[in-house]
Amino acid sequence: MLDDVVRVVVSERQIEARVAAMADEIAFFYADNQEGITIITILTGSLVFLADLIRRLPIRMRVGLVTVSSYAGKTTESCGALFESAILPDLCNRDVLIVDDILDTGGTLRLVRDRLQTGSPRSIRTAVMLRKKEKAPADLPVEFVGFDIEDEFVVGYGLDYDGLYRNLPYIGVLKSELYATESMT
Ligand code: IMP
Ligand code: MG
Repeated sequence: MLDDVVRVVVSERQIEARVAAMADEIAFFYADNQEGITIITILTGSLVFLADLIRRLPIRMRVGLVTVSSYAGKTTESCGALFESAILPDLCNRDVLIVDDILDTGGTLRLVRDRLQTGSPRSIRTAVMLRKKEKAPADLPVEFVGFDIEDEFVVGYGLDYDGLYRNLPYIGVLKSELYATESMT
């Protein structure tokens, strides 16, 4: 499996240091929140980031989950985000922090934000591990960003290609021959 990765984009050590720094930023930001924040994470890609991040966050929190699908199987092009399911705590008057793996076109975050807004939270902020800077829409606010990366398809640290590679402890690019050609629409 390790042979499938042609280049490491973010190393395990870089991730560890950055997640710790992000947790400090987030804890500082919510320092005045006494009742606890509500983290909503977007499965499945954010699992690993969530687990690392929350163990670094010494603040009161509840965690909720939503499932959104945008990439079907062997594709690296988003087909538009679809809301699938949610396990949500009460959001009314809560400070909500959405935790996602990667901000690409922003379709997923926009969908989740709009959906969570219907629960009347006090605030909604967002933390993403990765952002594809060139593609991320300017009108979608993201308060906490791990790394800005080039516009290329990456795997590892929760991110998959066709369901695989989520368990890699670093973020990397696969050999080009492993990506299916995207002519089958
Ligand atoms: P968006 O809706 O286009 O912003 O895409 C966001 C979602 O697509 C993320 O939550 C990921 O699950 C997935 N995604 C986007 N880019 C990549 C990538 O480079 N590798 C793996 N998954 C990705
Ligand atoms: Mg995915």
